[in-house]
Amino acid sequence: SQRRQVDETLAPFRLSQEQLQLVKTRMRAGLEAGLKSKGPSTIKMLPSFVYRTPDGTEKGKYLALDLGGTNFRALLVNFKKGLQHNARLYHKIYTIPQEIMQGTGEELFDHIAQCVSDFLDYMGMKNARLPAGFTFSFPCEQTAIDTGTLVSWTKGYKATDCEGHDVVSLLREAIKRRNEFDLDIVAVVNDTVGTMMSCAYEDPQCEIGLIAGTGTNVCYMEELKNIKKTEHKFGKTEKGEKEDMVEGTEGEKNEGDAEIPKMCINTEWGGLGDDGSLDDIITPYDVEVNQNSLNPGKQRFEKLTSGMYLGEVVRQVLLDLTRGGLLFRGHVTETLKTPGIFQTKYLSQIESDRLALLQVRSILQQLGLNSTCDDSIIVKEVCGAVSRRAAQLCGAGMAAVVEKIRENRGLDHLNITVGVDGALYKLHPHFAGVLQETARILAPQCNVTFLPSEEGSGKGAALITAVARQKHD
Ligand code: BG6
Ligand code: GLC
Repeated sequence: SQRRQVDETLAPFRLSQEQLQLVKTRMRAGLEAGLKSKGPSTIKMLPSFVYRTPDGTEKGKYLALDLGGTNFRALLVNFKKGLQHNARLYHKIYTIPQEIMQGTGEELFDHIAQCVSDFLDYMGMKNARLPAGFTFSFPCEQTAIDTGTLVSWTKGYKATDCEGHDVVSLLREAIKRRNEFDLDIVAVVNDTVGTMMSCAYEDPQCEIGLIAGTGTNVCYMEELKNIKKTEHKFGKTEKGEKEDMVEGTEGEKNEGDAEIPKMCINTEWGGLGDDGSLDDIITPYDVEVNQNSLNPGKQRFEKLTSGMYLGEVVRQVLLDLTRGGLLFRGHVTETLKTPGIFQTKYLSQIESDRLALLQVRSILQQLGLNSTCDDSIIVKEVCGAVSRRAAQLCGAGMAAVVEKIRENRGLDHLNITVGVDGALYKLHPHFAGVLQETARILAPQCNVTFLPSEEGSGKGAALITAVARQKHD
């Protein structure tokens, strides 16, 4: 029957507790391997050169530039010392056209410089030479807080001549080419790190940052002694580095571990599975999505869990069901063959429990898909299966991270807060709940609170800039 065939199609998306447990185990192994390896590893575990979360003493005016989610954002943040929750914020959002994401590196950075120029005009601050923090949401190999070599583009970006280059220099050069304003770029920060810092400004228990948006990634505060890949470097410049960066561990607010030196690690957990370790849960639809992507073979975990890909997985399933005559009266339309039609916001709407099926049909209609009532039920079910799996996989990954932190500290029980951002987390009606539930079940000794970031990662980048800057004043 039709029912049975739909169920069979969706069965591989329904993961058992055992499978999720396995994902958690593999994530944990990946985190450990990445911390140890000096060479490439599937989970990169990139040092951020951020040594502590904010302590409320940050002050001053900073510019934050935020690239790599759905949009580019420019912000001006003003912190008043000693008064927590007292950060004034002005911002403007710019879209980055696909031709720019996938053109030349020069065009991309010129475009960013142009957006910054517009923002400074808007604020009337063209001549201020502000200290700036740059949230750059891609994997960067850092050797200091203000340099980051792009390892590889992810998500929808593939601008030429950027991989292997320091993105801070690329931005400085673009600003120079424009020859119109000047910036003092003090820090380059992954969006997870910015998000963790933003949220830690409100909640000192926040030592993890999570993005569930266009892409997916996590950062967390790791003990320096566990970061084997930088051991050598720290050994050599122990004093200099420590004086420069470790902002007095007095900033630590967790009882009992105030003296333990730490650094925030950008895990780049989206790379889990790039060595084939997730092949047992990967469906033929995921294989298709991977092959059609800008980076086949890379970011396999990300392709199962993030906004840029979930709609594509849904589309592949719908295509298959339609070809099998189970949907849309068997008509494979051009619309259904169009990559990217199901953006996160549509999945979120389709899965909303407040929507009547008639409204689901009207959303599909807007997307150019004529559906019957039965069709709309099936589409909703497909979306549900795909997004639920995504949330469960993120939950399993999160369980691995919090367990690692708990074991680091030798605790029986850990209370910890995760700062979160991203459209999938914020807009989807069920993602956050399933994520939290899965983490709770798979890490029963941890009490994990998820705290959505209020103004994005930019405030965090500004806080990092403030800390790095105060050192030099
Ligand atoms: C924003 C952060 O709010 O969320 C960005 O400021 C981040 O730094 C983004 O990249 C992630 O969400 P999305 O859904 O835009 O990918
Ligand atoms: C991708 C990027 C990563 C970023 C994440 C969320 O996974 O590689 O750096 O944090 O997307 O934006």
